[in-house]
This record gives sequence, structure tokens and C-alpha cells, in this order.
Amino acid sequence: MLDWEQIFATRSSRMRASEIRELLKLLDQPDIISFAGGIPDPALFPDVAFKEAYSDIFSSAQVGSALQYSVSEGYKPLREWIARDVAKIGIDCTPDNVFITSGSQQALDYLGKLFLSPNDTALVTWPTYLGALSAFNAYEPNYDQLSLNGNRTPEAYRDTAAKTGGAVKFAYLSADFSNPTGETIDLAARERLLALADELDIAILEDAAYQHLRYDGEAIPPIMALDIARRGGIENTRTIYSGSFSKTLAPGLRVGFVVAAMPVIRKLVLMKQAADLHSSTINQIAIEHVASRGFDAQVAKIRAVYSKRRDAMLAALDKYMPKNATWTRPEGGMFVWVTLPEGMDGAELLAKSIATEKVAFVPGKAFYADGSNANTLRMSFSCADEAMIDEGIKRLGRLISSAIRAAA
Ligand SMILES: Cc1ncc(COP(=O)(O)O)c(C=O)c1O
Repeated sequence: MLDWEQIFATRSSRMRASEIRELLKLLDQPDIISFAGGIPDPALFPDVAFKEAYSDIFSSAQVGSALQYSVSEGYKPLREWIARDVAKIGIDCTPDNVFITSGSQQALDYLGKLFLSPNDTALVTWPTYLGALSAFNAYEPNYDQLSLNGNRTPEAYRDTAAKTGGAVKFAYLSADFSNPTGETIDLAARERLLALADELDIAILEDAAYQHLRYDGEAIPPIMALDIARRGGIENTRTIYSGSFSKTLAPGLRVGFVVAAMPVIRKLVLMKQAADLHSSTINQIAIEHVASRGFDAQVAKIRAVYSKRRDAMLAALDKYMPKNATWTRPEGGMFVWVTLPEGMDGAELLAKSIATEKVAFVPGKAFYADGSNANTLRMSFSCADEAMIDEGIKRLGRLISSAIRAAA
């Protein structure tokens, strides 16, 4: 047997299968109520619209170019559609500022590659999107906790980065309905982050994967929009905005995008030429076809369903959870974040929950760059109907109450 570890690059040492993913593989059993997957409900996919789109493409003269190689920047009409869509939320840009990726996950990989030399520091919220940590890990960074309440000075970040032999390069966050907490960053915190980024002279990576999934409350301008307003135009901004069609149309087509100043876009194009040349031509055309004919109606449809599920989950948590558990009350997205009393372990609870109550969720510690806060859980309401949500939370409340009693 070859000793592969000796030959693999050092960057591969941080690529590990998570124990949670292994546990979640057990979820195929049909009798499990799952709040684990952070995925859209397939019943809501606009499958008829996609059937029409592909059928139109195959019955038109466009079929040749749809099946052909294409440019690395992405399909121009789709970039034009995105530029118009983001303009509605204050992101004033040209289609040239829009770069298509194979899902917004690819954007995270490219941005990690573009900014992080080994030992550089990435600022991330505690907790943060697990897939961002996986994407950045390959570039061997250190992580430092991004504080959004302004209680850390720029020097504190700089000193921590210098101790580990690198520089702070960017702050990564989701401002709206984050994965995993469902929380939204308020306007003052967005402004503070822009000021901090100015002082540190770093980029801000704004992950807007859930941007369109607001169910109530007032929309807050994206950090990118605030940056453009401050700087008088996108070319002077330090924010890099990534978006996705995965949560609104369908993730299987793998179409996401980045909006940024041209020097960033030009580098991303070179990276894409080296990595996969371009995202799927036909899928980009199909996404543009469906988005330009019915994006708003599709978003209205999924918001109506998910908001009821969110309400059902919050109501069930109020009804069944013990008093010493707390949770977020998200205004959008797909997640509620539950915090249990100190000392409890979400991974242990998951094993018990699957075995005895047949309810699944994701233990929270995987979302912390330092693996802390084992007493947290991520619960997704996107794929269960209201009756299942009530039943699942009832069982989970029972299990958690008895675990708390046993620990007392
Ligand atoms: C916060 C966040 N960013 C990015 C992604 C990646 O999504 P996609 O590559 O499908 O656009 C996800 C997927 O769950 C996510 O939750």
C-alpha cells in the first residue's frame, strides 16, 4: 500500500470528512424527520419552467452554442439579468462586473485561492457557513473571530494575524439569514464592518446565498450597496458579493455568481480558465430563460411556503422546548439556531435523537472555526411540512428535557 499522505500536499491535511456528514448518511431511512439538510424543498422547483426552457433551447438555432464551449465570464444575457436584479437592492453595476460561477460554492473556493497565502488570516463570524471553512481550508489560513459589535480594535486583529505569521486578508460573512443561525446583521453593524475593513485595508466577502428569502421585517441594504453608496461607484469598493440561484430556482444546475470591481473579476476569469473553463453553458441559458420569465413569481411561491414552515418551527419550539434552551427568530432563510445549556453536546444528542426519536438536525460545533460551542444545533425548516415540524420538535423537546434532567 502506498503511503499517500507522504505524497499529498500539506494543504490536503485539512481536508477531512466530517463525522457529522457520516452520521447524516444514516438519514436515508424513510421514518426519520429531518431538520438536518440545508437544502430547498424539491417540490418547489420550477420543473415545468425548466422543461420549457430546455425544450425551447433544443428546438431553436441556439442549440449549437448551448452545447458548445463558451466564455469564462459567463452567458452575457444572464449577467445582464443579474445586473438588473441586484440594481433593485442598490448594487449599481454593469454586466461586466458580474461573473458566473458553478454555484456560489465555487466563488468561495476561488476567493480563498485569490486572497489567502498560507498563514494569512480570514475573519469569519463565530459560527459561520461550514462550506466556507471547507473552501478556505485548502489555502491554509488561520481564522480569527469577526466581531460585529465593534468591541475589537483593528490593532487586535492585526496583532493576532502577525502572531501567526500572516496578514488579515478578508472578512467573510452572510449579512442576511445566515447559514447556520438564520440571523441578519443590522445596518449599524454593516456600516461598522465597512469602517473596520477600511482601517484594516481588507476585502469583505458578502455571501448572499439567501438574499431573496425574506419573510418579514424591513430589507436592509446589502453591504455591497452601502459600499457603493459610500465610494460613489462599484470600481472603488472593497466588497465582493456572491449570489446563487440554488435557493430560488434549483441547486442542481450549479449556477451562482460574483459581483465585484473589475480588477477582482479579471482575476476570477483567469482562475476559471485554469479550473473549469466556464460554467455549464446550457444550464446558464436555462437559468436566464426561467429567471427572465418568472423569477418574482417563483420567489413569491417559495417565500409563502417557507415562511409558514418557519412560523411552525418557532411555534413548536415555544411549545415544546425546555426553558433553558434559547433560539434565533429568523426573518428569512432556512435555519433556526438553538442553544442548549452549557455542557450539553449536540453530536451526542444527535446520535440519541436518531436512535430513539428518529429526528435529525446538525450539531452546531462544525460551524465554529475553533470547534467550540458543542451545545448548539442547526435546525432547518425548509424540507418538512408543518405537521412534521410540530411532531419532530415535540420529540426533540422531550429528548432535550430528559437530557437536561439527567445532567442536573
Ligand atoms: C451560506 C451559503 N453560501 C453558499 C452556499 C453554496 O451554495 P451554491 O454553491 O449551491 O450556490 C450555501 C449552500 O448551502 C450556503 O448556505
